[in-house]
Amino acid sequence: MTRLDLFIARMVSQRACLDHGIAATAHMKGPVFELGLGNGRTYHHMRETISDGRPIYVFERAVASHPDSTPPEDLTILGDVRETLPAALDRFGPTASLVHADLGGHNLAKNDEFARLVSPLIQPLLAPGGLMVSSDRMYFDQLEEMPLPDGAIDGRCFIYRA
Ligand SMILES: C[S@@+](CC[C@H](N)C(=O)[O-])C[C@H]1O[C@@H](n2cnc3c(N)ncnc32)[C@H](O)[C@@H]1O
Repeated sequence: MTRLDLFIARMVSQRACLDHGIAATAHMKGPVFELGLGNGRTYHHMRETISDGRPIYVFERAVASHPDSTPPEDLTILGDVRETLPAALDRFGPTASLVHADLGGHNLAKNDEFARLVSPLIQPLLAPGGLMVSSDRMYFDQLEEMPLPDGAIDGRCFIYRA
């Protein structure tokens, strides 16, 4: 696979898993968490696709998104997720219906190390039945890894259920 093939596979898988996660949690009332805003493409997709009124809180250390894809201030949780996720647990409790994480960069070993670090901070935020969609393999001891939906490619995206 070329780097272009890998990039396309990741993007196609991200959209398929997000669409699946959004539909499968549409009956839930709890908030949606987007971890890592970046350019805001996945945030924009979630905002346009979630039509049931669930708020989407965005966790990001420095907002630098496209103007069309910038969340309102009251739904932006600024700072390092190593600090903002534990604070979110105090604020929201185990209520999240859907968590999407795309926090990584180009260094796969660093992404994996970070996924190990943040997994125990994400796990307690999910409501029973809530889903987590991630670009990186996560390390949960209480969430179940789910099969990927049609259109997603193994290893390019991961789905976990509380
Ligand atoms: C790959 S980008 C996200 C791309 C986004 N999904 C999109 O579609 O445009 C990763 C983002 O995660 C953020 N990030 C990485 N580590 C973080 C941390 N420890 N705390 C908060 N944000 C972090 C980076 O600042 C970056 O904006």
